Parts: sequence; structure tokens; C-alpha cells
Amino acid sequence: MKNILVTGGAGFIGSNFIFYMLKQHPEDRIICLDKLTYAGNLQTLALIMNNYNFKFIKADIADRQAVDEIFAVEKPDIVVNFAAESHVDRSIENPGIFLQTNVMGTQVLLDACHKYGIERYHQVSTDEVYGDLPLDRSDLFFTEQTPLHTSSPYSASKAAADLLCNAYFRTYGLPITISRCSNNYGPYQFPEKLIPLMIVNALADKPLPVYGEGLNVRDWLYVEDHCRAIDLILENGEVGQVYNIGGHNEMRNIDIVKLILQALGKPESLITFVTDRKGHDMRYAIDPTFIHEKLGWLPETKFADGIQKTIEWYLDNKSWWQEILSGEYQKYCERMYGNR
Ligand code: NAD
Ligand code: TYD
Repeated sequence: MKNILVTGGAGFIGSNFIFYMLKQHPEDRIICLDKLTYAGNLQTLALIMNNYNFKFIKADIADRQAVDEIFAVEKPDIVVNFAAESHVDRSIENPGIFLQTNVMGTQVLLDACHKYGIERYHQVSTDEVYGDLPLDRSDLFFTEQTPLHTSSPYSASKAAADLLCNAYFRTYGLPITISRCSNNYGPYQFPEKLIPLMIVNALADKPLPVYGEGLNVRDWLYVEDHCRAIDLILENGEVGQVYNIGGHNEMRNIDIVKLILQALGKPESLITFVTDRKGHDMRYAIDPTFIHEKLGWLPETKFADGIQKTIEWYLDNKSWWQEILSGEYQKYCERMYGNR
């Protein structure tokens, strides 16, 4: 039986990871630490809130005193850090909070792990730390050896956190692992990210804002495949190691948007090309050879099935996202898309 501290567990991937772990490892105890920013939603965790092997604590990973107290009381064996500001567009608008949470927050967690001792600290990172690849070089992929070459304040903050993790491994011998995953999609994703945004806008017959010409390529992975990869890294991963996670599923934004419209029976006339994102990365593509060879990981969900399940989930769970779409989020949309 292990005590697993999951930070950012009220967000998209963190919550899916908690559900996955409670199912796969019912003997373990999960403690979720989350600040409940705009992206964190307790409603997501409602079904497990009273489970005997689950506990929720509202706290900021950058709050040293709070984190220290949590470690002293809960004594985690394993820490998995999902907590982050995660949206590139918001990082362009306001980089400061990205450095505060993603860099300083990671340092606070690493310090607590060093002070109290843990079996493993796992940092959930992103393929965006590698920068981007050109569209005309389909032979190129990100490997674990690809140099860090960030574009946005978001990716720069994630790369800084990765470097800190490596430093704590080398300097203090802290047993860390890092995973760098490609774009995730699936249930409970905040509707500011491409796929859920397009689904909820299409359902409301609102314009679908495609940046530039929609030719940018992302490598999409169903969220549960990401969760399984992290579980494998926790069980059999080598400390000090980086693992890239991705399933060779590269798609252009415009093709995803058209596919969503088709699935919902909505017209392509809803597509609106808007001013491109500043510093917009062209293409992400992961080479997952290392995690496949070392840990036997392969994605299980094909995109055609995953996107169908995802669309159905948003259709079946309107109240989950309709609540989010009020208040603060409306103001964000006006700022982000108003004059584009
Ligand atoms: P998300 O924005 O949906 O969720 C982030 C969660 O972290 C929220 O619950 C939020 O309340 C919490 N949080 C934010 N600041 C906090 C703080 N200071 N203290 C405690 N909690 C805080 O993000 P996501 O898409 O689930 O991403 C989770 C992690 O995975 C992030 O580290 C992200 O960089 C990484 N990642 C995401 C993707 C993707 O496609 N979404 C891909 C690769 C890696
Ligand atoms: P996003 O979901 O923000 O993920 P990331 O930028 O971290 O890859 O965006 C995915 C792609 O979709 C990216 O190329 C930007 C594009 N995009 C749009 O065209 N319109 C939008 O409204 C958003 C949010 C994203």
C-alpha cells in the first residue's frame, strides 16, 4: 500500500490519472493537492470524494508552509506533479503566474521531497519543451536527446521545471523521473483547449476560431494512454530518466476541426480563421521508441475511437462544461478572441 500525492488532480489529466490509479491500484491511497484555479474543478472529483482511499486538499504547490505541512501529515511515498498553468495562450497574456506555479511550485515540491524523503517524484512535462519541427520534414521526431528549445512562456516554464528536477537528481540524489507527453484529449478537458473548445462552440453554433491557416500539426494521444504510461514509469522506470510519450498520431488543426463538425452534423461555415498565435509552434511529433522498448508501452486507443468517445462525453456531460462557461471564462474569451 502506497501513499500517492497527486498535485493538480482536479484538472484534466490529473483527474483522469486519479480515476485510473484508483481502478488499477485500489490498495493505494491517493491524496490530491490542488489550488482549484480556473482550471481545477471539484465537480470532476465528486464521485470519488467520499472514497476511503481518497483525500482532497486545497493548497498551492508554491506555498512552502502548506506543502511542508501536507508532507509532514500525509507522508507520501510517491509524488506525481500535474499541477501547472497549462494553456499557451494564457502564458502569452501573463507569463508571471506560469513561472510562479510551474517553476517555483516545482521547486517547493522537490524541496519537500528532499526534506521528508520519498520513493519517487514524477514530473509530468510536455513535448513542448523541445520547441517545434518544420512541416516539410516528416522524418524528424522528438527523442529524449532532442535539445530543449522552447517557444512560449508556458514551455519555457515547463523546461525550467524539468531542469530543476534533473538538478535535484544529480545534486541530492532525489529519485525523480520525467515524462514528456504530446497533446492529450479526452473527458474533463477545460474547453479553452482546441478539441473541447471546438466541440462546445460547434454545439452552440458559435464560430470555431482556427489560428492562422490551421496547418499546425499536433500529435494527439487519448488521456488514458498517458495515464497508463505514467503508471508504468512509476512501477518500472529508471530514476533520473526522461520518457517521451506519444502515439504517432499527427494531425493538422484544420482536419481535427472539420472532423468534429462532421461528427456533430454542423456546417464548415462555422470555421473562422483568426489571427495566428504569437510564436505558434508548427509541428510536434514524438518518437516513443524508448518507452516502448524499455517499459513495453504502446497507445491502446485509436484516434477515431478516442475522438468519438470524447465527443460523446461532452454531449453526455453538458452540465459539467456549461457551468465552466460562465463568469470569468466569458471575460477570457472576450479578451482572447474579441479582436482577433
Ligand atoms: P489543467 O490546466 O487542466 O489542470 C491543471 C490543474 O493544476 C488544475 O486542477 C489547477 O487547479 C491545478 N493548479 C494550477 N496551479 C496550481 C498550484 N499553484 N497549486 C496547485 N494546483 C494548481 O492541465 P492539464 O492539461 O491537466 O495538464 C496537467 C499537466 O500535464 C501539466 O503539468 C501540463 O503541463 C502537462 N501536460 C499537458 C498536456 C495536455 O495536452 N493537456 C500534454 C503534456 C503535458
Ligand atoms: P492547444 O489546445 O492550445 O494546445 P497546444 O498549443 O499546447 O498544442 O492548441 C492546439 C492547436 O490548436 C495549436 O496549434 C493552436 C490551435 N488552436 C486554434 O487554432 N484555435 C484555438 O482557439 C485554440 C485554443 C488552439
